[in-house]
Formats: sequence, structure tokens, C-alpha cells
Amino acid sequence: MRIVQITIASAFLCAGAAAAQGATTTTAAASPTSWRSIPTLPSDVNRGRKLLANLEDPNAKDAQKICPGYTAINVRNCPGGLSARLVLAGANCNVYGTDIDQLDLRVSFGPESRLNVRILPAEIPEGQESWYDTKEDYLTRTVKGVHFNPTDSELDFRLNSSPFEFSVVRKSTDDVLFSTKGSKLVFENQFLEFRTELPERYNLYGLGEVMHSIRLGNTYNRTLYATDVNDPLDENLYGSHPFYYEHRYATLKDGSRKGYAHGVYLRNLHGQDILLREKSLTWRTIGGMVDLTFYSGPTPAEVIADHVRAVGLPAMQQYWTLGFHQCRWGYHNVSDLKDVVEAYRDFNIPLEAIWSDIDYMDQYRDWTNDPVTYGLKTFSAFLDKIHADGQHFVPIFDAAIYVPNPNNASDAYPYYDAGLAADAYLKNPDGSLYVGAVWPGFTVFPDWSSPGTQDWWTDSFQKWYKEVAYDGIWLDMNEVSSFCVGSCGSKNITQNPVHPPFSLPGERGNLILDYPEGFNNTNATEAAGVAAEIETRNSANAAKAASAGPSPTSMPFVSQVLPGVDVRAINYPPYAIDHVQNGHDLAVHAVSPNATHSDGSLEYDMHSLWGHLEIGATYKSLLKVFPGKRPFVISRSTVPGTGAWAGHWGGDNASKWLYMALSIPQALSFSMFGIPMFGVDTCGFNGNTDMELCARWMQLSAFFPFYRNHNVLSAISQEAYRWAAVADASRTAMAIRYTLLPYMYTLFHHAHTTGATVMRALSWEYPNDESLAEIDRQFMLGPAIMVAPVLDQGANYTNATFPGGENERWYDWYTHEARNASEGKLVDLKAPLGHIPVFIRGGNILALQHPAYTTAESRKNPWDVLVALDSEGDAYGDLYLDDGESLVQEKTAFITLEATNSLLNVSRKGQWTSTETLSSVTILGVPKKPNQITFGKAKLGKWSWRENSQTLEVTGLEGVTKGGAWSKEWELSWK
Ligand code: GLC
Repeated sequence: MRIVQITIASAFLCAGAAAAQGATTTTAAASPTSWRSIPTLPSDVNRGRKLLANLEDPNAKDAQKICPGYTAINVRNCPGGLSARLVLAGANCNVYGTDIDQLDLRVSFGPESRLNVRILPAEIPEGQESWYDTKEDYLTRTVKGVHFNPTDSELDFRLNSSPFEFSVVRKSTDDVLFSTKGSKLVFENQFLEFRTELPERYNLYGLGEVMHSIRLGNTYNRTLYATDVNDPLDENLYGSHPFYYEHRYATLKDGSRKGYAHGVYLRNLHGQDILLREKSLTWRTIGGMVDLTFYSGPTPAEVIADHVRAVGLPAMQQYWTLGFHQCRWGYHNVSDLKDVVEAYRDFNIPLEAIWSDIDYMDQYRDWTNDPVTYGLKTFSAFLDKIHADGQHFVPIFDAAIYVPNPNNASDAYPYYDAGLAADAYLKNPDGSLYVGAVWPGFTVFPDWSSPGTQDWWTDSFQKWYKEVAYDGIWLDMNEVSSFCVGSCGSKNITQNPVHPPFSLPGERGNLILDYPEGFNNTNATEAAGVAAEIETRNSANAAKAASAGPSPTSMPFVSQVLPGVDVRAINYPPYAIDHVQNGHDLAVHAVSPNATHSDGSLEYDMHSLWGHLEIGATYKSLLKVFPGKRPFVISRSTVPGTGAWAGHWGGDNASKWLYMALSIPQALSFSMFGIPMFGVDTCGFNGNTDMELCARWMQLSAFFPFYRNHNVLSAISQEAYRWAAVADASRTAMAIRYTLLPYMYTLFHHAHTTGATVMRALSWEYPNDESLAEIDRQFMLGPAIMVAPVLDQGANYTNATFPGGENERWYDWYTHEARNASEGKLVDLKAPLGHIPVFIRGGNILALQHPAYTTAESRKNPWDVLVALDSEGDAYGDLYLDDGESLVQEKTAFITLEATNSLLNVSRKGQWTSTETLSSVTILGVPKKPNQITFGKAKLGKWSWRENSQTLEVTGLEGVTKGGAWSKEWELSWK
């Protein structure tokens, strides 16, 4: 048994406050494949116990009624905060575990707008430290040994000793932001509960990952526990982000309205239920401690940036990753990939990266390729060709590692052997390997706490890169998913490989026959054809399945339930969270809670962190594969801080209009969580898409940071060229996206350096306008671009709000005409298929680059500047430039563009230079025809002014910007 050092609360500042403070203690520590004739796992291997979730149990014990709460004693002020001892105020209630009699309260102010409140067991029994506190290495702390004078804080901490209650107050308004008044703290070894009062009709956002509109309801439950599931609404999904912000609006003395936002982050990733009620929020977790950080804001943008800075600033992405990505499950061989890449080229639709799903693997095993369909010779030749064309390749990589059949010498899998030698796998409580099941059959799962795991992981990625020249890694199934309950493979490995206990898409019983809402109505002719096609496919598939499909008969399967060694009820904790999986059993479709790590910790306490730790290990590996380059990782499971290493896609959505609409709040929530590199499966994953949905969706996603089309196995093809209208719509939107790439890249630079968001809710840009509190059918990209997509089937118009009051100007991207703002009102906008309404907000300057087929080619194109003047005739913009790929840049440049009094001034800082010239400057909102245009001292002749749109366009600037649009500072005036 290994020994692990755990430092308890070393960041806390209060000298002499608590016995355990600062003490270091020691504790014991596919489609083609699917037709293979391999045994199928019995379907009941993934059936857990049927538990009654506490939230659905009318007879559930109410901890508030039966527990005694705590009394605070020894309350002491100390530099930067205060401390106290909390003592159980009555007889133990042991409602869902064992009460902890004595707790330490540690309050620390700062840095700046933060306040941290921690409550943890006063004397943690030896060996139980890791139950309560997640290591700093695994999950960043928000407050790290800072002394901050409480009197300088905007937040006040108020404590009531008996009964112990606390509140957090905004000093400038005396507004109570958080208050446990009238409720009890319940702190047990397997259950925490605390409650805060909330104002009526509160506006609360965050608490993900969830499919929901942006504003969470006031009678609503949220459950957080990482899980592999098809994006059901209002249920727990792949990631866990216990962070919310609340937005309140107050009337000032002059009668105007002002918004105030504050944020709350619970640094606790145990399974949890959050109960939003009419006037309160109750937090319940099945372990860990209370570690709350409050952010004072007062704007949503400030709260979010503060949270993002606290958990980890997002990674700067390589420039190319902002191009368009095509993926699907079901590119069966290299020629499929080649055909897709060529077709995109033939149809002149930009394609930056082609992705491979598990089809490329040899029997779904990581770091391998199918020797026939993805033979290395053809595969490498294909990769060489796309790389020569400036394109990229991103393969999927699954979390589980196949266990070769010990009775079959030809089943060798050296990557597994190397991991075994490195002691890199999770164990059962009895020390044997934990063996679950995923796509390839029985599998083991990396243990990120084991000292040998990282080197094995890195070596494997380095070795594999020599065979398959990937450009980034797509991490899937890392919740971590397993298709059976418990260590189902322990006694069955000699059966390997085995088929999952369910049919893959396209197999018997799982034909993809679903279409988007309204398909029959609006595609009557096509629908009739499809119905016939379904009929044919149905019988063809049925015949295929009958002849070669996986056998429904079960393999000889030995089930095994291993007892735990923990004093807690690990597999079936006394409080059952409202987990989405069957029976609410935590072990269903996941590695079970009793799986044991080499440092002695259990999955029970670590579960939602698994993906994050895998991402960290992969990020480090890619740094070795591509020294000095920013690693490109897209992951399904995420936690606070994941953005520092990876982006995220929205998982297995459906080809439905509803899912397209929900992709906006989903993206906005990941902006809040510090993972700006976000996108969804465009055109929809599960089910078949159709022309109209795909056309609308290809246009919408063009304004998301991560832009990828992905599809499930055996659904109809949905690449952008499959329908003429989708191809047209895609070309239109992509041309805008690629024109805006320098702006998007600059937004990423700000995100990476300050925590600012890339995709934004309107209410973040206009924090005083209450009418925007629920708007999530339109959004902003940075401060300057607003997108108002069509999200309804059959519609040829949409309606949008134009915030900012009468003085705000919104210029139509296409016509350049200014629109009057009409706060709070929805305005009809014509939007026939192929048109996505996009507006530029007055007061902004965009540096744009002519679009090309790839991002690399776009970067070599001439520039345009678009100045969108506000009602005062002013505007501002900036531009960040670097080499687009290096982690540490030798040279960068930061360009500032300012317009005022009919003069555009461009200044620069930094050493980065490039030679692309300036082609044009377009100025929107010029009311009168100017007499003269000058560039520096030179008078310019090529310009035109249009009265109807009040647009001035100055062209032919290549000559005066020889040597590069940004290599010198310059001025352009129109008088
Ligand atoms: C998971 C992923 C999906 C992928 C599939 C097959 O469902 O979320 O994107 O296509 O596995 O690998």
C-alpha cells in the first residue's frame, strides 16, 4: 500500500486558528466491427439497483427537520479573515451518514473581489483527508495564501454564533447576497447540506453541465455527476460545474435601473443535488467540504472573468482550430475520409480539419489503426496530402484500454502491457484490476494518481504519432464511462473481445429512423421518398442483422460483486442523488464508486474529475509530441479549470430544432465556466438531419468558437455539400466567419489573458437591462457582433431585440444599414433559408481578413478595416497578432484602432510583423459626403460614399500600406 502526503488547508491564513491547519498528515494510502462474430455482453450487465432518488422520495428524511445544526465558538478575527470552531448543537442526527461533531470555519477575503468560506472537519480521522479535500493539483483553489484587508472588500461576512448562520453582504448596497438564516448546516461524512435565501423571481445562471435555457427556473432541481448520456434535458451530463451567478436589478434614486451580479462557486465535485426553490437554493453533496467562493462583480462579465481567473485562464488555441471541422461516426475507411475532403474542395466549402471517430481503430483499441480499412500506408499518404494542403486531422481517443485475451496469443495489445507494467490502472478494493467494458470489449481505466501513468501515456502518444500524424486529440467517454456495473470483466477476460451489451446505431433494434421535427410537413415529397427508403433500409438492415449481427444470446458470463473496504457506504451512499442513469445507481454506465486509486482515494470522491485528469495528462503528452506548440484537445468531460487545457463539444445532441436552439445557452454556460472553445455537433448527432435544419445549423455554428459537423453511425450523411441549399448557406456563413477570424483570435487572446468571454449573452453586455435576463435565442460574439439566428422550422423570418437604448446603433452585416435600437422590443427580421441575421454594434472597429479556403491561406490575405461608428462618431477596436501556434511567443503585436472626429488612428505595440497589405477601410455611420480623404499626409482618390446606408468605402490602400497593414502606425481621415 502506498503512502500519500496530504496537506490540509495549507492556504489558510488565520494563525493558530485550528488544530489541523497547515498540518501535513500521513494517510494510508462499429459498424463493421459490430458485424464481427464476437460474443455480446448480456444486456443486464449495465443494470444497477433501482434506487429511489432522495428528491423523488416523498418519505425522504428532511435533514433540516431532524438535524441539530451547529454553534460557533472561538470566533477570531485574523489577518485577511476570521476563524471559528463549529460544534454540533445537539444530538447526532446521522441522517445520511455520520455527523462530524466539530468543524472549522475559515473565512478569507480577497484577492480583490473574492471571499472564500471553508467549513471542514476540525479533526479529520487519519486516512480520511482525501474524502474532504480535493488536492490542489487536481482542482485549483480559488484563494492561494493571499492577505487581503477585509475592510477593502466589497463583500462583508456576517456570522451568527448560535445557531450558526452566516451571510455575505454587498457593502455598497447592503444587499444580502447569500444567507443561511433560518436553515441548518448539515455536515456528515457522506452528506452535506446548506441553504441560502434568494429573492423572489431570482435570475440565476450556470450550475452545469445541463441542457436548459440560460436562466434556470425557480422551482427546479439540478444534479451534478459526470456521466455518459445522450444530452437529455435538465439532467446531469458529462461535466460538473458547481458555479452560478445571480443577477439582480435595482432602482436607483434617479429612477433608472441598475444590474448587480455576484457569483458563487462550490469547490466540491462530489455527486450533488441543487434545489432551486421559490425563495431559496439548497446545496446537497454526498461528500467533501464546504468550500465556497463568492465573487462580488458587480457585472456578470466581471463575475465570470473573476471565476475564470480563479479556476484557470483558458488555453490560447492554435489559429487553425478556428477553421471548420468535419467529423462523423461511420467514415469506414481512408477512402471515405478522402472522398469527404475532396468533395468539400470540389464544392468550394472551406474544410480545415477532417476528424475520425472510432472507425479508424483496430477493433476500437486506442493508439491503433485498422490494418485493412485504415492501413498505415494509405492512411499516411492521405495525412501527408491533407497536411500539404494546409489541412488537419483529429482522431477520437477513448478513455478505456482494451484488455487482451490471455488465452489468445494473437490478441496481443502491447499498449495495454506497457500500462500494466507501469501500474497505470484503477483497481478493485481487493487490489485486483478493475475491469469494465467499453467499445472494444473488457477494458481497464487509467489511474491518474499512479506515479507511472503519465510516462506511459506520453510514450504511447509519442509512439503512435510516428504512425498516425494527428494534429490534435478528441477525448471521449471520459466521465469515465463503462458499459457494465462493477468490475464485470474480472472473471470474463478470456471471452474478449466482446460486443457492448446494446446494439450500435444501425444494428438490429437500433436503426436510425428519426428525422427533425416537422420533416413530414415541410419536406412532403422528400418525406415520402424517405419513408420508402426507411422501409428498404429497414428490411435490408434487418436481413443483414439477422445474418451477421451480434448474437442476442448471452455469453457465459460470471458476475462479480466486490465488497468495499471503506467505512462509508461507497457503492450505495445513504443519500441517492437524482442521477440520470437507470435506477440512479452511480455505478451504471460508469466506473463504479469503489474503484480504487493508487494513492488510496476512491472513485466515489474522484469520479467527476477523471476526465479533467485525463485531459491534463494528454495536454502534457502533446507538449512532448509537438514541443513548444499549443496542444489542441477537445474533451467531453470537463470541470472548473479544464479550459486551461481543452475545449469541449456539447456531446450527443439530436438532429432536432430544439437541440439547435439549446446549443446557444449550452455555449453560453461554457463561457461562464471558462471553456470558451465550445461547439456542438452541427446538424445534430443522434437521428437523421434534414436540409433545412442542417442549413440553419451550419450557419448558426459558424459563429460558435468551435465549429464542427458530426453525425452518428448509420444516420444519413450530413456533410455541408450534401444539399445545394446547405452548401450555399455554409459558404455564406463561413465566408463571414473566416473574415472575422482575426477578431475571434483576438477574443481568444483576451479570454486567455483576462478571463473575458468569447461568446456572450446580451445581458452580459447590457447588465442594466432587465428585459435581457432570459434572452438566449440570440447572442454576441465578443463586444462587436450580434447574431440572431432562425431557430424555428419552416420560418423565413426571426425576431430579435436590439439592446442599448435609442443611442445604440446596430449595423446590418450585409447591407450596412443602421437599425434603431428598441430596447425590450422584438423586431421582425427577414431571414429566408441561407440568410443568418448578423449585426455590428456601433462603437466597434473590426480588423478583417479576406477569407480563403484554409485558415493558413486566409492569414496570407489582405486586410480590411470596418469602422462602425456610434452615435457620437466614435469607435474602438483591437487586434492581436502572433505566429498562431507557439505556446510561448517570441514576438507578438497588439494593434489598437480608434476613431473619433472623422479620424481613424492605428497604433501598435510589440514586435510581430507580417506583410499582408490593407485593402480597404469601410466606415459605417458617416452622415455627410466627405470632401477629402487622407492617409497620413497623402490624399486618396479611390473612395465612395453611399447616402442610403451612410457608408464610406475607401479602397486601393495596398500602395500606402506596402510592407504590411500593421507594420507601421497610421491615420486615415475623412473630412
Ligand atoms: C460517443 C461520442 C460520440 C461518438 C461516439 C462513438 O457517443 O459522444 O461523439 O461519435 O461515442 O465514438
